[in-house]
Order: sequence, then structure tokens, then C-alpha cells
Amino acid sequence: MKKVLKWIGIVIGSLLGLIVLVILGLALKGNSMLKKTYDLQVETIPIPTDEAAVARGEHWVMAECIGCHGEDLSGAPFFEAPFATVNAKNLTTGKGGIGSEFTDEDWVRVFRHGIGPDGNSILIMPSHAFRLFSDADLGDIIAYLKVAPPVDKELSEPNFNLLGKALLGAGVFGDSIVIAETINNNAIDPVYPPAGVTPEYGQYLINVSACRDCHGAELSGGKSADPSAIYAPNLTSGGELIAWKEEDFIKAIRTGLTPTNRQLDPLQMPWEHYKNFSDDELKAIWAYLESLPRLESTLP
Ligand code: HEC
Ligand code: HEC
Repeated sequence: MKKVLKWIGIVIGSLLGLIVLVILGLALKGNSMLKKTYDLQVETIPIPTDEAAVARGEHWVMAECIGCHGEDLSGAPFFEAPFATVNAKNLTTGKGGIGSEFTDEDWVRVFRHGIGPDGNSILIMPSHAFRLFSDADLGDIIAYLKVAPPVDKELSEPNFNLLGKALLGAGVFGDSIVIAETINNNAIDPVYPPAGVTPEYGQYLINVSACRDCHGAELSGGKSADPSAIYAPNLTSGGELIAWKEEDFIKAIRTGLTPTNRQLDPLQMPWEHYKNFSDDELKAIWAYLESLPRLESTLP
């Protein structure tokens, strides 16, 4: 009997040892994903300074950024879990903000390549979509960021503990964390149609707004790689939108309320910044959605 117990002890002990080794191995892998440095040539794009450009840039920022970085761009916690915290940075020139340190090259590097000034990938922020902004639009966005009102707010740097790194190494978050890696694999080619209420311009807005991250590459439904994400419905006429009109769509993005009076969760579907798109921009997005072939819903 004693012998049997001894053997059971040895087996359990070895299994536990093995589990610890696997966790450590995965954590090492996760750590190297976070610490990987990328060295590349950053293109220069013109950054305007005139008032009209700054105003256009502010409009983009209100439509694309404030849901994560806060109304005043002073940053906000994005991801808080027992295994990791990631804050959306303070973008202003205030204390704790990156605005006063970033050079034009730093701004372009982060939006076009998802890489910070230290050469590491930025985390979570959808630069694989922002890289599709035209030079002119990106220039306007940077023009605004450089003069946005300073706000003092210190936020901690991203932090993954051992478990967080192991989960990252195990691929639990898909490719949703280490963004620089997703940019290399991103299949969408940039298109730069003139602004207007056209399906082509709507497609541009959809591409830069990362709608496909959640609604799927073909917009026929999907799920963000974030494990806490819920299903993002089919936006082609194969889904509920077949019964929607343009004004229903605009109302849904402005208020989060669908025609069946369902409230869209702003933490899952970031309408709280998309609501700042102009009527014409939302009409262009709708025109693009209407132009899509009817696709069966891709189910999770
Ligand atoms: C889905 C949420 C989300 C959206 C939308 C978003 N960001 Fe971020 N952003 C983040 C997070 C999270 C970080 C912190 C990443 C890190 O620390 O690695 C960040 C970091 C940044 C950085 C700093 C990168 C660095 O290297 O320090 C800049 C600049 C930035 N965001 C600008 C913007 C702008 C401009 C927009 C809109 C065009 C935007 N972000 C939209 C989440 C977001
Ligand atoms: C971070 C993930 C995410 C992004 C990015 C995103 N969505 Fe969504 N969207 C969702 C989720 C999840 C739902 C369902 C929300 C709910 O039911 O509370 C949703 C719901 C919707 C709905 C309602 C559909 C229905 O059948 O009720 C519309 C319309 C929509 N999104 C359009 C868009 C457009 C247009 C964009 C880009 C400009 C976009 N979404 C970007 C996740 C996302």
C-alpha cells in the first residue's frame, strides 16, 4: 500500500512539474512576443499645420479614437485582468502624455506599422486598420494630435504577469495583442477614393475603422480575437440588416439602438466613437454595406 502511494505521489509530482515547465515555456514565448523589436524605415508624410487640416484631424479622432483614449484623449484603462493590464495611452502633451515626446516619425511609425518609439509592437490598438489611412488623412490626424489640449494624467505601462505571458504564448488572444505582427499579414490593399457618399468611400471608412476585425473579413459576421468578445453580426443583406433602412443604420450608430430596440453594447461595438461620423460618412458606409453581395452569416 505504501509503495502504491509513493508511486501516485511520484506521478502527481512529475505531472505538476511538467505543467510548471509548460507554463514557463509558454511564458517565455509570450515574453519574447512582447519584447520583439522591429527595425524598419519609416516613410515621411507631410504634416500640415493649418486650421482646416487640424479641424479635419479632430473629426477623425472623435470618430475613431475616443472610445479607447477618452473624450479628452488623456487615456483610459483598456484591459484589466488578474493576468494583465493595458492602458490606452494619454495622447496629449500634458504630464504623462506621449504628445510632447513623439516626433513626426514616431507618429507615422505607430499608425503605419504598429510600432512604438522603442521598436516594440504596440498592443491591441488597431494600427492594421489605421495604416490604411491615406497620407492626407493621416497627416490631418497627426496635425490635430500635435495641438490637442494638454491633459495631465499618468497611466502605467502595459503589464503581463507570468500567467498573462503564458496565455499570450499559448495563443489564447489570437493575433489581437501584438499588432505589429498582424500588419505584416494584413491582406487588405489600401484604396483612396475621394470623399463622398459613395460605396467606394464607405469601403475606405470601413477599412480604416477596423469593422472587419470583429464583423469578419467579408463583414458576414465574426468575432474579435478578444476572448470576452461576443459575436459581431453579419452586416451584409444575409443578416438582420436586410430589414434596415439608411436611417435605421444611422440611428443605430448614433444611439446604439437597433430597429428592434436592441441596445448595442458600447464595450463590444464601439459606436460611441463611430457616432461622431458625419451624416455623409455614415451614408457612405451604408451605401457600401448595401453594395455587398448577400452572404450567409459566418457563425462563431
Ligand atoms: C481599440 C482601442 C483603441 C483605439 C480605437 C485606438 N487606440 Fe490608440 N492605443 C490603444 C492602446 C491599448 C494603446 C496602448 C498600447 C501599448 O501600450 O502598447 C494605444 C496607444 C496609442 C499610441 C501610443 C503608442 C506608443 O507607442 O506609445 C498612440 C499614438 C495612439 N494610441 C493613437 C491613437 C489614435 C490617434 C487613434 C485613433 C485614430 C487610436 N489610438 C485609436 C487603444 C486604442
Ligand atoms: C470591437 C469589435 C467591433 C468593431 C470594431 C465593430 N463592431 Fe459592429 N458590432 C460588434 C458587436 C459585438 C456587435 C453586436 C453588439 C451587441 O449586440 O450588443 C455589433 C453590432 C453592429 C451592428 C448591429 C447589427 C445588428 O444586426 O444588430 C452594426 C450595424 C454594426 N455593428 C456596424 C459596425 C460598423 C459599420 C463598424 C465599423 C465602422 C463596426 N460595426 C465595428 C463588434 C464590433
